[in-house]
Amino acid sequence: MSKTVKQKRIGILTAGGDCPGLNAAIRGVGKTAIVEYGMEVLGFNAGFLGLINKDYIVLKESQLSGILTVGGTILGTSREKPYKIVKNDNSETDKPEKIKQTYKELGLDCVVCIGGNGTMKTANMLAKEGLNVIGIPKTIDNDVWGTDVTFGFESAVQIATDAIDRLHTTANSHQRVMIIEVMGHHAGWLALYAGMAGGGDIILIPEVPYNIRSVCKKIEKRYEHKKPYSIVVVAEGIEHPKKGSAASYLSEAITTYTEIETRETVLGYTQRGGSPSPMDRILATRYGAFAAQCIAEGCYGTMVAMRKGDLTTVPLNEVGGNLRLVEPDHPLIIKARKMGVSFGDEFL
Ligand code: F6P
Repeated sequence: MSKTVKQKRIGILTAGGDCPGLNAAIRGVGKTAIVEYGMEVLGFNAGFLGLINKDYIVLKESQLSGILTVGGTILGTSREKPYKIVKNDNSETDKPEKIKQTYKELGLDCVVCIGGNGTMKTANMLAKEGLNVIGIPKTIDNDVWGTDVTFGFESAVQIATDAIDRLHTTANSHQRVMIIEVMGHHAGWLALYAGMAGGGDIILIPEVPYNIRSVCKKIEKRYEHKKPYSIVVVAEGIEHPKKGSAASYLSEAITTYTEIETRETVLGYTQRGGSPSPMDRILATRYGAFAAQCIAEGCYGTMVAMRKGDLTTVPLNEVGGNLRLVEPDHPLIIKARKMGVSFGDEFL
C-alpha cells in the first residue's frame, strides 16, 4: 500500500526596508518549492502585516515568471514588528496570537521570512512560539550577523559607486570638496565598498571614530600637493554633533576650518531602488532555492547564509539581535590606508 505524502503549504513574506533582489529571492523559493518539491506557495502582503491580517495571495508558478529583474517586492513590505509593545495600546499585544492563528488556519508548514536584522529577530521569536520558520538575509546595509553577504548590497554599492564617479568630474571642474553620504544604518559596509570602488579620498564609517581636524588636514594637504579636489564618502551612521545629516555637518565643518568650497550629496533611496545587479540576482536566487530545500528537509528555525562561498544555515537564535559590523582592521581598510586613503583618524 502506498502512503500518500501531504503536499507542503508554505508562506513567503518580505519585511523591513526593500532592496534590489527581493523578487529574485521570492522567485527562487517559489519556483523551487513548486517545481522540485510540489509544494503550495502563499505570498503574504506587506511583511508581518500579511500574517497578522491573513492577507495573502496564492503564488502560482506563472506569477513567479518575469520578476527576476524587477526591483522592489511584488509582495510589498512594511516595518511592522509584531512583538513591539506600543504603550497604551492593548490591541498591539495580540499580534503574535493573530499570526499563530493565521498559520494554523491556513495549514502552513513553514513561513519564509525575507528580511534584515529586525526580521530575523521576529522570525526567531515566532520559531520560539512553535512556528516553522526559515530566514533569508537581505539588506543594502550588509549587516546581518551570521552571513558573509546579504543580497541587495552589491546593487547598492554599484549605484553609490556610479554616483561617486559622477561627482569626481564636477568636483574637479570646480575644485571643490564633494561629500557624499550613503546609507548603511549603523554599519559602514556600503561607504567602505563604494568609497573604495569610487576612489574616495576620505571614507568615514561608524566603526572607525574620526576626528574632524584630521579630516580637514587631509583635505588641506591634498590642496598643498596640487590635488585640487577631494571626495569624502561618509556613512549615514557616523556620530556627529549636529541634528541634520552627517553630510551637512561635515560640509559646514570643512568649510569653516579649511575655507575650501564644499558641496554635499545625500544619495538616499536611489540606493534601494531599481533592478538588482547580476550577482545579487544570483545570490538571491541561490538563497531562495536553498531555503526551499531546507523546508523539504525540515531544517527549520534557521537562516540561510553564505560562509566562505558556501551556502549554509545558521540557527535563528544566534542571528536575532546581533549586528555584523566592519572590523576596524578589515583587510580593505588596511590596504586603503597604505594607498593614502584617510579614515579620518590619522595624526596629520
Ligand atoms: O536598512 C536599509 C536602510 O535603507 C538603511 O540603510 C536606512 O538607514 C534605513 O533602511 C531607512 O529606513 P526607512 O526605509 O524606514 O526610511
